[in-house]
Amino acid sequence: MPLQIKSLDEYKSVYQRSVDDPEGFWAEQAETFNWSKKWDKVLDWNFREPDINWFVGGKTNITENALDRHLETRGDKVAILWEPNDPNAPSKTYTYKELHAEVCKAANALKANGIGKGDRVCFYMPMVPELAIGVLACARIGAIHSVVFAGFSATALADRIKDATCKMVICSDYNHRGAKNIPVKKVVDDALAMGCESIETVLVHKNTGEDVAWNDVDKWWHDEVDGQSTDCPAEQMDSEDTLFILYTSGSTGKPKGVVHTVGGYMVYTAFSFKNVFQYQEDDIYWCTADIGWITGHSYIIYGPLLAGATTMMFEGVPTYPDAGRFWQVCEKHKVNQFYTAPTAIRALMAYGDEFVEKYDLSSLRVLGSVGEPINEEAWNWYNEKVGKGNCPIADTWWQTETGGILISPLPGITDTKPCYASYPLPGVQPILVDPDGNELTGNDVEGLLCMKFPWPSIIRTTYGDHERCRQVYFSTFQDMYFTGDGARRDKDGRLRIIGRVDDVINVSGHRMGTAEVENAINEHPQVVESAVVGFPHEIKGQGIYAYIIPSDDIVDEDQFIKEIRAVVTKEIGPIAKPDQVQVVPGLPKTRSGKIMRRILRKVASGDASNLGDISTLLNPEVVEAVKKGAKA
Ligand code: PRX
Repeated sequence: MPLQIKSLDEYKSVYQRSVDDPEGFWAEQAETFNWSKKWDKVLDWNFREPDINWFVGGKTNITENALDRHLETRGDKVAILWEPNDPNAPSKTYTYKELHAEVCKAANALKANGIGKGDRVCFYMPMVPELAIGVLACARIGAIHSVVFAGFSATALADRIKDATCKMVICSDYNHRGAKNIPVKKVVDDALAMGCESIETVLVHKNTGEDVAWNDVDKWWHDEVDGQSTDCPAEQMDSEDTLFILYTSGSTGKPKGVVHTVGGYMVYTAFSFKNVFQYQEDDIYWCTADIGWITGHSYIIYGPLLAGATTMMFEGVPTYPDAGRFWQVCEKHKVNQFYTAPTAIRALMAYGDEFVEKYDLSSLRVLGSVGEPINEEAWNWYNEKVGKGNCPIADTWWQTETGGILISPLPGITDTKPCYASYPLPGVQPILVDPDGNELTGNDVEGLLCMKFPWPSIIRTTYGDHERCRQVYFSTFQDMYFTGDGARRDKDGRLRIIGRVDDVINVSGHRMGTAEVENAINEHPQVVESAVVGFPHEIKGQGIYAYIIPSDDIVDEDQFIKEIRAVVTKEIGPIAKPDQVQVVPGLPKTRSGKIMRRILRKVASGDASNLGDISTLLNPEVVEAVKKGAKA
């Protein structure tokens, strides 16, 4: 097991050691795992190309470390505790032994269907155990999983399947989501109708049992998996072989497939899990994220299982059957560590305290927050109403690209302060720079957040387009990984993340590229041009505000707005639907033709009184019209 830090002095000395001797430090962590061949070199890297290799030449399989390694000591311990959407339906458990057996069966089924090392398998599934089993089955045989959040549209799914040339899709018939059932298989059918020629098989997990259309490529999960052997040798993977691809939005173009590799990701997710959540052997740990996002990959599946934890998977939503569901589940399973997103906290807070006060939350020891800045009001509510003032809050800052948590208080060890992600984990070397890349030294400074040294789970490439990876993360500042976030370091050295400084917005903890939403809007035949910006939103953190130039007069604006929302839902999914749509005669542009988003952001935020210097605009006259029609 990797080291678990227990005191502030230890944190300070371990951190110092990790900076002075990163290779020695990470070798010690990696040595606690099983490798069939030890690495020849701990780290080989440059940020220029970039070319980053951890545990070079080492061979292992992440599922041997997440499953087999625990069989002797924790075989009968619950690995996955599953809580269904329906509060009256029974929970399900898988011990490490059972999970191992199920993963092997699924892995054999994948092999029997022609999936082998390096093949890409797409998942489009609800939060059912078969999703975790399927993902681990891929890892067992060296297939690369690409999980697509099941809220994305058929178009978005098809784009991702094509980009990674997946051979198989694994889905369910329907998803349970609150009071509704969602036809997931139908979305896969629609995606496949868009020409996903690489798909040979669709494996369908029977979840609700409702009728689904059946195609030649379709096979039932139970037909393929149930009769398989519970023994499946783990493919020995090179430390730098790809473990998975996960698509995420950037400021330009289509979402890109972030690539994580086996060895470094394994070591870092386990290490960060143990330390950030201070997990103890008998604890019940619950992360409410969806496995469609990186948080679910790293801190529902891999990190906890590598650490031999009991990890809960929740199928439902926070407000079904009512706004007390999270707390009812915490009470029911005596959850010790609870990890959620600020948007959920804000939403539940708005329903009133009675929902949280009804339940016994005395089992809670550590609270976590992830995905977006947590505002002070939400932090205080979380601390007082949920944690009863007794549970340190780990405000964890990280990204799809970082693979694991990089900045966070260590509960009970380092102090906490509302809105502050605070301190880097061992091995993490943050640096604040000005726009020219000069380091901002000392405390009480604000700048752009970069990392000057690799940690084991850093992004290796963007799938099929290495140049894009270089350009987006490693070219803004020389020899640094640029996060895209701004941050402030307070007088005591704690870091506060301010938010994105690029054209990425964070809606309910979901990352969205403004260009991506604009491209979707532009699919509407009556749209000439659009510009999308974020604006402060009480529950979502940021909302989506779209300015649209139509090709001709809009007679029925409500209808037009409806159609705009529908086209975005079709192209991306409901999570990208604009909250506000404003029809404008033009967009403020610089003389070089660039949209002045600064102005649009201010107007969208209801702060149009001081727009600064607009004299350099190509078309200053449109500013008045934009201001006049503002929906803020
Ligand atoms: O802006 C930061 C914000 O979420 C972005 C990463 O989004 P994604 O790759 O989808 O991963 C989310 C889950 C790890 C970051 O660039 N972000 C994430 N965590 C925090 C945060 N902003 C402030 N505080 C956080 N704790």
